[in-house]
Amino acid sequence: MAMRCKRCRGPVVIEVRRHNAAFCRDCFVHYAGQQVTRAIAKHHMLAPTDRILVAVSGGKDSLALWDILLGLGYQTDGLYLSLGIGAYSERSKQLCERFAAARGATLIVHDLANEQGYTIPQAAAQAARAGTAGRSSCGVCGLSKRYIFNKAALDGGYDVIATGHNLDDEAAVLFGNTLRWDTESMARQYPVLEATRPGLVKKVKPLYRLAERETAAYCVLKAIDYVIEECPLVAGNTQMRHKETLNQMEEASPGTKHNFLFGYLDRAAALLRRADGAELAECSRCGMVTQAPDDPAEAPVCAFCRTRARLVDGDARPLPITEVRAG
Ligand code: AMP
Ligand code: FES
Ligand code: ZN
Repeated sequence: MAMRCKRCRGPVVIEVRRHNAAFCRDCFVHYAGQQVTRAIAKHHMLAPTDRILVAVSGGKDSLALWDILLGLGYQTDGLYLSLGIGAYSERSKQLCERFAAARGATLIVHDLANEQGYTIPQAAAQAARAGTAGRSSCGVCGLSKRYIFNKAALDGGYDVIATGHNLDDEAAVLFGNTLRWDTESMARQYPVLEATRPGLVKKVKPLYRLAERETAAYCVLKAIDYVIEECPLVAGNTQMRHKETLNQMEEASPGTKHNFLFGYLDRAAALLRRADGAELAECSRCGMVTQAPDDPAEAPVCAFCRTRARLVDGDARPLPITEVRAG
């Protein structure tokens, strides 16, 4: 017997096995909005009066997020950060611009090369020279994004930054952290991070209840054009492998990812956060919030300023190949 939509008994376009459900087009779009509404309500993510900055990469998740938030009537502007990854970055920017223009929405564009003097491929090349390729290029990328999103939101007077992290992203990050029992990182992983002091902007992940294939389906069903290819620098990285592993388990036992992530959020996250007493300070170079150094006599310098100095000012040691060989 053909499957019927759980809500209206109409013809099914997508099955959501972990919820034992299947939906027609309209009911699936409704379901996606409802999952976001639930996330927002449960964690007090957004208020109707908030000015929200949605970080959009041009991918399915963040464009679906922006579309859903606009649909729910929130006050949102988009933020695209060009990472200087050649044609990939150009295409991503273009899709964000088109999305915004079609909806009369505002898109803010920042550019790493123009504003900070380096690109992610340059950071990756330097990591390769230093023998720390792979993890490090993503590390610099994540660090740059977090820093610039926060700064752009502060400068623009936004109340909150929303990113498109989905259930698969969050489960894969948690899986990686669990394999290493990296409790410090685990303590910081949550769908909402409050602005605990001046200089920090509140961060939310309203898509954490939706799986990757659901955000993709949402875009297809709503004819949202997004960059399909993954960033050329992440191919085969650790997080992608963790996603594949989780997908195999999910296939055999639907709900695995959901239970893994939600069990953590409901029962373990609070315990870890209580133990995370990291002390914060102001970066002596840029004024942004950073972890206080162990030695109180040392001037605090944030990870972003240290990384940029290494990449741009040639501080520390971007070793030329010849020197590496000679050593
Ligand atoms: P990723 O770190 O690539 O998994 O992306 C996680 C989230 O960060 C995305 O869903 C977006 O909200 C945001 N994001 C990633 N890349 C960019 C970018 N280049 N510009 C703006 N936002 C981005
Ligand atoms: Fe960060 Fe590709 S988007 S390394
Ligand atoms: Zn700094």
